[in-house]
Amino acid sequence: MSPDSLPNMKIAASTVVGTTLREHVLMGMHAAPNATGEFTSLINHLSLAIRVFNSKVRAAGLAKLLGYTGETNVQGEEVQKLDAFANDVLLNVLQRSGHCGVIGSEELDEAVFHDHPGKYVVLFDPLDGSSNIDCNIDIGTIFAVLRRADPGDAGSLADALRPGREIVCAGYVVYGPATVFVLSTGHGVHGFTLDPNVGEFFLSMPDIRVPDHGKMYSCNEGNHARWSPAVQRWNAWIKSEDKAEGRPYTHRYVGSLVADAHRTLLKGGIFAYPADSKSMTGKLRLLYEANPISYLLEQAGGAATDGTSRILDMKPTSLHQRVPLVIGSKAEVATFASFVRGER
Ligand code: AHG
Ligand code: MN
Ligand code: MN
Repeated sequence: MSPDSLPNMKIAASTVVGTTLREHVLMGMHAAPNATGEFTSLINHLSLAIRVFNSKVRAAGLAKLLGYTGETNVQGEEVQKLDAFANDVLLNVLQRSGHCGVIGSEELDEAVFHDHPGKYVVLFDPLDGSSNIDCNIDIGTIFAVLRRADPGDAGSLADALRPGREIVCAGYVVYGPATVFVLSTGHGVHGFTLDPNVGEFFLSMPDIRVPDHGKMYSCNEGNHARWSPAVQRWNAWIKSEDKAEGRPYTHRYVGSLVADAHRTLLKGGIFAYPADSKSMTGKLRLLYEANPISYLLEQAGGAATDGTSRILDMKPTSLHQRVPLVIGSKAEVATFASFVRGER
């Protein structure tokens, strides 16, 4: 072999095997001056928990994991077996990692504090879209990572009750036709797809940007009668015909936040779960759902609000707090806000 052919071989090798999630996070850490490797290790542990859980999702029907456990969680909802399993896997792997001083889960009444001083706080919705499990519709996992103010202290609830703008990393996984992991560490949003045969996530959607405008709107219109007049006016506007303004928008609603948010991230438009007369402060949880999803939308150039204020500026008051959530392209989110202000 002539030495001249070596450079070409190198190029070929780098394109044959894509960038793994692990490599991607490591490359980002090389650029951080004081990186100790703990963050990379934390993401690797999260990825391990997700791959373990993914293998159970793919065999859920066979492994008799579908159906209810018979227990009720802190939100008053029935806990499905997969919810419980996802929670156990994440909790177990994160505790073992040694990097988490505080862990909060939608499925746990209280936050978990660790004896050893872990640098990070991890908050997660272990299984999002529980009502869709039995129908083979996309479900997911959502998480946010914060750095503890003082890792030397005993962990406290205050470590978790911080505004979303302090998040250092957030992500979600969609267990859909493919398993997709969408992640941001504060430098844009990147998507990875699991190759199930290799057991690795490979970079498949680098630098995702939310389009400035979209054609789709997403909400549970079954709640229409319970919405405020302002939200009803927005809803009537978005589906009314006006060719010049590109209306009506097309309606899409999966009922799993991860799937609705993922589509909104890629295609733009708007997803809204406003407050209503039954869910007076909204339905989605600030710490496990609204904050991480809003962080990702903003990192990708989109917007996230409760209708009047930026989600990431909210100061949480309790672990399981719920908020109205409106996310999407900046233009569509701004239009929603103008209806709420009574300008339209
Ligand atoms: P979870 O399965 O974690 O309890 O979350 C369910 C959430 C969210 O995924 C989705 O956006 C919303 O509930 C759907 O609510 P509706 O069924 O009221 O539309
Ligand atoms: Mn959820
Ligand atoms: Mn859940």
